[in-house]
Amino acid sequence: MDKFVIKGGRKLSGEVKVSGAKNASLALMPAALLADGESTLTNTPVLNDVYSMIKLLSQLGVEIKFDNHVLNINASNITNQIAPYELVKKMRASVYVLGPLLTRFGFAKVSLPGGCAWGPRPINLHLEGMKKLGAEISLEEGYIIAKAKKLTGAKINFDVPSVGATGNVLMAASLAKGTTLINNAAMEPEITNLIQYLNKMGARISGINSSILEIEGVDNLYGAEVETICDRIEAGTLLIAGAITKGKIKVFGADYLHLYSVLAKLEDAGCKLHINKEFIEVDASNISIKSIDVTTNVFPGFPTDMQAQWMALMTLADGVSIIQDTIYLDRFGHAPEMLRLGADISVHENRATVKGVKKLMGAKVMSTDLRASASLVLAGLAAESTTEVLRVYHLDRGYEKMEVKLKTLGADIERVTGSEF
Ligand code: EPZ
Repeated sequence: MDKFVIKGGRKLSGEVKVSGAKNASLALMPAALLADGESTLTNTPVLNDVYSMIKLLSQLGVEIKFDNHVLNINASNITNQIAPYELVKKMRASVYVLGPLLTRFGFAKVSLPGGCAWGPRPINLHLEGMKKLGAEISLEEGYIIAKAKKLTGAKINFDVPSVGATGNVLMAASLAKGTTLINNAAMEPEITNLIQYLNKMGARISGINSSILEIEGVDNLYGAEVETICDRIEAGTLLIAGAITKGKIKVFGADYLHLYSVLAKLEDAGCKLHINKEFIEVDASNISIKSIDVTTNVFPGFPTDMQAQWMALMTLADGVSIIQDTIYLDRFGHAPEMLRLGADISVHENRATVKGVKKLMGAKVMSTDLRASASLVLAGLAAESTTEVLRVYHLDRGYEKMEVKLKTLGADIERVTGSEF
């Protein structure tokens, strides 16, 4: 397992290009199952989660080539419709194959994902949506068995605007007979990217960028080309790397409207931002970071996937801030590790109180999940002396060559490969 060794205290400066969005790719790739032709997904990030999805799709019989950030996927010869426990347990997004397999083949056998580092993550909304579309759903030995001769359009209302359930139902409804309405759909940019791709495949989806989607089912979908959007969470993470080190950096590729809630909070915290269509620049030189409260919310609110990174910044702010996660009620695995760096954080249920300290001191810290590992890297960049972030395989799930990007911005960071940690 690899670790990062970071010599902190250096101001970051320079320019960096943001990679494609993990959470867009993990929806676009299973959507290719809907067509018996070849699709091309450009700007696909080189991530462990992308390789996990490639493994799952290949096991279904999909032909895949991945080269130079371009994925060519051909789902003409699907040999089975089973998503096994071993793969789904590793990556919850595997559940995205349920909708496409069910609507195209009338059958899908998908393992329940089980819990993850920060507690249960149910898929009841996915299953209720499939049932509304006419599927017969049963549970056998930890697997969801879904059957339907032909799905039929329905009116579906989500209690919470689940990203995954919205994506799954969108894909299932696109080949259903008749029209489907999804009320309270997720509006994350990754869902918009999925709708763009589905419509290019021949689907008839209206309401893009809104929480009310209408899908008119069609008989067939065809391979298409789609560009994966840039990763707004990577962009936000890199911008906070600039802010926490009091540096000045520019990130290229991300759409600023995909992370405006984060940019607004960075400005509230005292950072100077320069935003245009090409880049987002954060300048935190000679400022003292203000303590700013954050409550996570669905898009366009402050993303839960930026909660840990914001906490890292707030550990060095000038007062007390409250960070509340309303999406996941116990996504604070990074807090105890930050205490090891000298941070002053107390967590109660889904609220963290962060008292800014003058400085953080380097230490060995353990990653517990993807965004937690990113937040520990950020803290290490600002901490005095050396920080070792262990088990960065978590980070490699969702960030392409993070250490290379940070090095180009002037960080003193090395990846050390080994098994003893
Ligand atoms: C997506 O997960 C992202 N993953 C997550 O990013 C992200 O944190 C999450 O959306 C919220 O934005 C991918 O896109 C691959 P949800 P997803 O369904 O779809 C509850 C990262 O770090 N819920 O929107 O699983 C659920 O418990 C990852 O990149 C149900 O109750 O999230 C949670 O409280 C982590 N029943 C809330 O909805 C359901 O059937 C949001 O979940 C589904 C969800």
